[in-house]
Order: sequence, then C-alpha cells, then structure tokens
Amino acid sequence: MTADTLRAQLLAWYDAGARDLPWRVRPAAQASGLRADPYRVWLSEVMLQQTTVPHATPYFLKFTARWPSVTDLANEDDGEVMAAWAGLGYYARARNLLACARAVAREHGGVFPDTEEGLRILPGLGPYTAAAVAAIAFDRPGNVVDGNVERVMARLFAVEQPLPDAKPELKRLAAALVRDQRPGDWAQALMDLGATLCRPKAPICDRCPVAGHCAALATGAPETFPRRTAK
Ligand code: ADE
Repeated sequence: MTADTLRAQLLAWYDAGARDLPWRVRPAAQASGLRADPYRVWLSEVMLQQTTVPHATPYFLKFTARWPSVTDLANEDDGEVMAAWAGLGYYARARNLLACARAVAREHGGVFPDTEEGLRILPGLGPYTAAAVAAIAFDRPGNVVDGNVERVMARLFAVEQPLPDAKPELKRLAAALVRDQRPGDWAQALMDLGATLCRPKAPICDRCPVAGHCAALATGAPETFPRRTAK
C-alpha cells in the first residue's frame, strides 16, 4: 500500500468526522471558498501548545469574543490579557502572544504573513506554529509535527528507536507524507487521529482508517510505540 492510499484514507476519515472546533473551517465549507482566519488559527495553535482541546476551547471562545481581530488584541493592556490567560499556564506564551499580536498589528498592518518563513520572524513563533499556521490558514504544504503526529508516525512505521532520539526520524517520516493537496486538512487529520484513536494508551485500532498500514498494530502491541528510553 502506498503513501497516497494512506493519505486518501485518512483524509476521507477527516472529511466524514473531523472534530468541529471553533477555529476550523469544515472541508465542505472550504469547498465553497471559505478560508480559516489566520488570527484564529494562530491563537488556537498558541493556546494548544501544552494544553488539550477541551481545556483550551473556552479560552479560545472568550478571547475571540473579546478581541475579534489581532489588532484588537494588540491594542489591549498587558494586564487584561494576562488576566484572561489565567488558567492556561505557561505565562511566557501569553507574553509572546501579545508581542506577536503587536508585531502583526504595527509592522504588518494587521495582516499575518502568509508563508512559513514570513511567520517565523514574528516574536515567539517557533517552527511548529509557523508550519501549522501556514498549512491551516494559507494552504502551504509543510511538515506540521507535534507530539500526536510523532506518536502516529512511530506506530505506522513501528520505529524502534526510542524518543527523544527518534524525533528527527519521525519528522522525516511525516515529511514523506506531505503533498501539495490539502496541507491544512492533512495536518489536522493527523492531529485528530492522534488525539481521538491513536491515543497514547489504549489506542482504538479497530476504528482506525489507516490500521491496514500500521506496522505497530502488526506487531500486536501498538501501544508500546513510541519506544522510550527507560528512566
Ligand atoms: N492541536 C494543535 N493544533 C490543533 C488543531 N488545529 N486542531 C486540533 N488539535 C490541535
């Protein structure tokens, strides 16, 4: 079975059952030309670093109701934003969030750069967030690899090398599956698979759209991937 079959199966699963998350534009709506708002995509990605979707979602709704655009956020006082962030933790993220909003508002006229390279020069935007925003908001092919995607790759290819040493190999495996078509949906389909079926413990392989490709499942113990060095 080829990489293209695997892609087609996972994207079909995403089309049929993508989680309805408030920063997403569903595939059917995209088909009629609706695009995700880069501000909402960026804000969701910053909030979702080290925070689960159920925990981050009410904060996302609160922020976007109060500050509907990046310029609104940029013009807010630090103390108000920090107070609204309380409960999400990692306050450095909130400080970076404001620095980035102000750079977009003041140096880019309120418009997010539309490439990974352009996004990377914004304050606090690391390689993961730049690739994710470029793919999801601007349909730029890119390798969007978070912990969920690492786990999916480690299982699909039964990678024996333990984490964290395996990270470059997992990234390379993920890159080999990226195509020009539907890069944002592809990134989010992998994230959804990792979050809902290909879970760290007790993966639900009997509902997995790509179980037929999974080398870890073929070993009989998919949950033992990714391997980790003994502590
Ligand atoms: N985790 C990080 N980014 C995400 C996204 N766009 N959708 C779902 N989960 C995510």
